[in-house]
Amino acid sequence: MVKVRESIKAIIPYKPGKPISEVERELGLKETVKLASNENPLGVSPKVVEAVREAALELNFYPDGNAFYLKNALVEYHKNRGEELTPEEIVVGNGSNEVIDIAIRTLVEPGEELIVSQQAFIVYELISKAAGIEFKLVPQKDNRLDIDGYIAAITPKTKMICLVNPNNPSGTYYTKDDFEKLLKAAPKEAIVLIDEAYVDFADAPDYPNSINYRDKFQNMIICRTFSKAFGISGVRLGYGITTAEIADYMNRVREPFNVNSIAQVAGIAALKDTEYLKKAIEVNKAGKEYYYAEFEKLGLEYLPSLGNFILVKVGDDPKSGMECFDYLLKRGVIVRPMGGYGYPNWVRISIGLEDQNKTCIKVLEEYLKG
Ligand SMILES: Cc1ncc(COP(=O)(O)O)c(C=O)c1O
Repeated sequence: MVKVRESIKAIIPYKPGKPISEVERELGLKETVKLASNENPLGVSPKVVEAVREAALELNFYPDGNAFYLKNALVEYHKNRGEELTPEEIVVGNGSNEVIDIAIRTLVEPGEELIVSQQAFIVYELISKAAGIEFKLVPQKDNRLDIDGYIAAITPKTKMICLVNPNNPSGTYYTKDDFEKLLKAAPKEAIVLIDEAYVDFADAPDYPNSINYRDKFQNMIICRTFSKAFGISGVRLGYGITTAEIADYMNRVREPFNVNSIAQVAGIAALKDTEYLKKAIEVNKAGKEYYYAEFEKLGLEYLPSLGNFILVKVGDDPKSGMECFDYLLKRGVIVRPMGGYGYPNWVRISIGLEDQNKTCIKVLEEYLKG
């Protein structure tokens, strides 16, 4: 028998939302509404499609391992928002998931500790287990990341402190004050990794954009993705912003051609399509307001969200999240049960287009009537 590390055996595989085609095939459905994976409901920007079509003609070549044009496009994109960075401070990844993976593998050694919220994106736990790294899970407080709990969890072994803002699946956020408090408390030798997958939707005035703190605090890695507001989850593209020194180390660890050529051109085209981004944010905002109003009419508790999804409580029984998920699924609406994140009687609904949101509410209402 091949010997496998105990920490690997302990990994429970990540369960992604099912693809539409699989659900339709399994349940014999014709039209399904997928509101399960926080994807962009607008479809792909035609400008991205055009760029990808052209790039397909050069697929016989390896991609640019340094992603020169993509990094420059990112520098430009951030510059237009008043955020200064250089290409040397960027690390690109096969989704931000991979950037997180590279960061952990580059910087945290066995014997050192990583701190993350118990109710955050599950990959932090998976990567740590795979890398044989100890991790501490800090439970949320009032459905928010517990910043004081994080600070209390810091020990001399702490090497990485992982924050997700806005958080998935709660959609809640920590404020500028919370963030500053944590940055001040974090040891300078530890890295603060900030996962801002949903930053483009975060419109609260006291939401901290961590890029603005780079002058004062150098021990940060800020992770961003093209999977959400930019609408290209399928190509797998994300990036990290850090110091040139840390980026250099991370680049030594990452696989040399980790971001393929289609992803690179798609990313550049997406960054330039400001109209698409604007519309994505507007559609998301309108969708959220619709859901809030409907949930209130239905008397359902929900968590106001800064992301492109909402957690809503669908019953008191711990079985109700799974029951509701199944009921909706059989009627062609795919949402996400949240038992794995400690919300057994809630479901997470990704914001869709107007019609999709209406369909979701209609079926949810039927479910609630019993
Ligand atoms: C909080 C958070 N971080 C990171 C990711 C990973 O995104 P990707 O690997 O598609 O960039 C997700 C995906 O849903 C997420 O919710």
